[in-house]
Amino acid sequence: IDGQAAKSCNTKASAAIGKTVTTIEGLSTDSSHPVQVAWTEGDVPQCGYCQSGQIMAAAALLSKRPNPSDFDIDAEMADNICRCGTYERIRGAVRSLGSAEDLEEETGDV
Ligand code: FES
Repeated sequence: IDGQAAKSCNTKASAAIGKTVTTIEGLSTDSSHPVQVAWTEGDVPQCGYCQSGQIMAAAALLSKRPNPSDFDIDAEMADNICRCGTYERIRGAVRSLGSAEDLEEETGDV
């Protein structure tokens, strides 16, 4: 919501009134957003249940903190639980991406 990560499971719809909401479908129409590509190339998903939230959290993290450390990644994404245990692949995918400036150059947005 307005560029900040928000979890749909605990965010009231009224909190989004008058604000810009980006969903996983809004990152790109063809899965070409750099974070989505990194997920595919890193073979991150297992069952996929948590992956929309993981990708959106990663995109929000990278938009405010280019080249995050493992600590940054873990801290930002700690509330996104993956029952399949893909955390190492998630860290790898996030680390594989360039800075937020690189993402903006490629997509015009993060
Ligand atoms: Fe299965 Fe995360 S990929 S819960």
